Amino acid sequence: MTYNELLEQARQEVGPYCKACPVCNGKACKNQMPGPGAKGVGDTAIRNYEKWQEIRLQMDTIGKNQKADTTFNVFGKTFRYPLFAGPVGAVNLHYGKKYNDESYNNILVSACAEAGIAAMTGDGVNENVMQVATEAIKKANGIGIPTIKPWDMEKIKEKMKLADASGAFAVAMDIDASGLPFLQAENSGAGKKSVEELHRIAKSTYAPFIVKGIMAVRGALKAESAGADAIVVSNHGGRVLDQCPATAEVLEEIANAVKGKMKIFVDGGIRSGADVFKAIALGADGVIICRPFVTALYGGGEEGVKLYIEKIGQELADAMEMCGANSLKEITKEMIWRP
Ligand SMILES: Cc1cc2nc3c(=O)[nH]c(=O)nc-3n(C[C@H](O)[C@H](O)[C@H](O)COP(=O)(O)O)c2cc1C
Repeated sequence: MTYNELLEQARQEVGPYCKACPVCNGKACKNQMPGPGAKGVGDTAIRNYEKWQEIRLQMDTIGKNQKADTTFNVFGKTFRYPLFAGPVGAVNLHYGKKYNDESYNNILVSACAEAGIAAMTGDGVNENVMQVATEAIKKANGIGIPTIKPWDMEKIKEKMKLADASGAFAVAMDIDASGLPFLQAENSGAGKKSVEELHRIAKSTYAPFIVKGIMAVRGALKAESAGADAIVVSNHGGRVLDQCPATAEVLEEIANAVKGKMKIFVDGGIRSGADVFKAIALGADGVIICRPFVTALYGGGEEGVKLYIEKIGQELADAMEMCGANSLKEITKEMIWRP
């Protein structure tokens, strides 16, 4: 199967909102929610993609002729690439009936683990989603990251128990999900969390705790003082607040403030290995790609996911070799060009 065949197949299965575009740039689905689009006018996801494209690669091919080492070490685990598959909740609502959250996560978690990276799994109103996702992570020997929504504290405790029982090597919370309309409709205490509450949540798991949905230095500092082991610079792909800057626009400033204190991941419009390279040059330790994994899975199941990982991984290795970085640590700001 080629990537084009995968997209062709996905177009038969993934509708009606997603068009399985050659490049997932937020335009065709723009403000479609339900669907994979963004909130409000819908241009935050588009901006996420476009801002990575404004950054270019600075090649330098005078140097030792050797293969780049893309190995990524984090939280005591070694991965082939600095890449996680992003969490998606309610896949059948947003992408059509072929999969539900249970079947989707089952395939995603095992395919990613077999291909040498880790998948993050989403959370939902349906209790079964976290149950099945954490079972899939357990089967994959803990290679997966359950992502818990900011429910009320009691419910978070229950979900955390499931996450811990899975042996997951890390646990995340998409703190920005307080902007999702369905979570806003909950009247049980779901929503924003104070630093003190976040601290209690971070302490309630043995696993490294990742706070997903940080877009400003002040948020990063709060996550740090809450005891987070990592943050994800993310605007949830534009789905929780309209008119955010792109993640590529805020990453460097956030990284300058907290680099070395916590791991820094980033997502939003990252669509190639070259984009992964740019993110690392700007201070990220690793990246998350979300929507294109859905297309890969709807279009090619397990094979599609593995094919997509190889595509991104090879593009990253190519960018590293052409710019003179032999390992992820050698990627520097001098290797990118900005307007
Ligand atoms: C349909 C859909 C559902 C999502 N569900 C979740 C979720 O349950 N938990 C979460 O942390 N992020 C969720 N996200 C956000 C993604 O994980 C990611 O942060 C965002 O899409 C940006 O990455 P991308 O541009 O590569 O898609 C969802 C995104 C989409 C499009």
